Amino acid sequence: METGIASRTARAAAAHRAVHQILDGGRVFLDPLAVGILGENVDDLLLESRQDPHAARLRLFIACRSRFAEDALSRALATGVRQVVILGAGLDTLAYRPSVASAARIFEADHPDTQLWKRARVAAAGIVPPAVLRYVPIDFEGPTWWDRFEADGLDRQLPTFFTWLGVVPYLDAAAIATALDWIGHFPGGAELVLDYSDPPDSLEPEARRVHEARAARVAALGEVWRSHFDEEAMAQLLRSQGFAGCLDLGPSEIGACYLGRPAHEGSRRGGHIVHAWTAARAGAANLVPPVAPAVRAEPDPGA
Ligand SMILES: C[S@@+](CC[C@H](N)C(=O)[O-])C[C@H]1O[C@@H](n2cnc3c(N)ncnc32)[C@H](O)[C@@H]1O
Repeated sequence: METGIASRTARAAAAHRAVHQILDGGRVFLDPLAVGILGENVDDLLLESRQDPHAARLRLFIACRSRFAEDALSRALATGVRQVVILGAGLDTLAYRPSVASAARIFEADHPDTQLWKRARVAAAGIVPPAVLRYVPIDFEGPTWWDRFEADGLDRQLPTFFTWLGVVPYLDAAAIATALDWIGHFPGGAELVLDYSDPPDSLEPEARRVHEARAARVAALGEVWRSHFDEEAMAQLLRSQGFAGCLDLGPSEIGACYLGRPAHEGSRRGGHIVHAWTAARAGAANLVPPVAPAVRAEPDPGA
């Protein structure tokens, strides 16, 4: 990330969520604040999306990861979690949902420059931050960033639900391991939803070309993709950092769970979404089906 500049990839992810509401009717991930918080001209957003032949695929992945996190959070709230931490929040709007804000204390953490921009966008959109929300400016690559949370009132004795969406690829291995270690040894127990991507050299040729073109685009924005994992490496990393179990959905499972595609169709390699839990949350995380069985109608991927 470039100092003094809000994350442009956070803006891009928010644009995909906004376009998902307009073009797909929010059928995978319904977010009533997605368009307003971005505050951009809708025609320009649609034009930008139509100019990228691969936009629909990324838009659906971003919608699926948010939906997966929201489903897991709903189950966590139903089984006693009362503290939520949104890491690398960008323009994520979960904290402003009455259903979440009425049930839990919420901490939004992000790079200071991105967080300043987010707070300005929240104000400009007329969104009133709930009283239970704390903004925590951090740099995952700086020293002892976790201390900021306790200074801002995070209670480490409470079971806590974390999201970390769209952030892992931008960090180096040491920063990822440090954050996972902190979450994986949370004294009150933790659940975490994150996403990651398989190594580019393990992708099929067309997927690899798309991946590399996108990597070059985000690098040109000053945000380089630095970390990739395969499924076994991610599971092993989570175990080594204190997690007791995880559910990892690869591209074909995501398609089957959320996009109405036949099970086992498509590649097993690409973007993954993970729900991980520590031992203290294992019982609750396993109490209910891990993925919502009801599939909403499939948006037109060619839109
Ligand atoms: C692709 S955006 C994803 C934002 C949001 N989670 C979403 O899904 O829309 C990446 C986010 O990671 C944050 N980020 C990247 N590097 C960071 C770092 N070293 N410390 C703190 N945040 C960082 C950016 O500020 C940005 O909000």
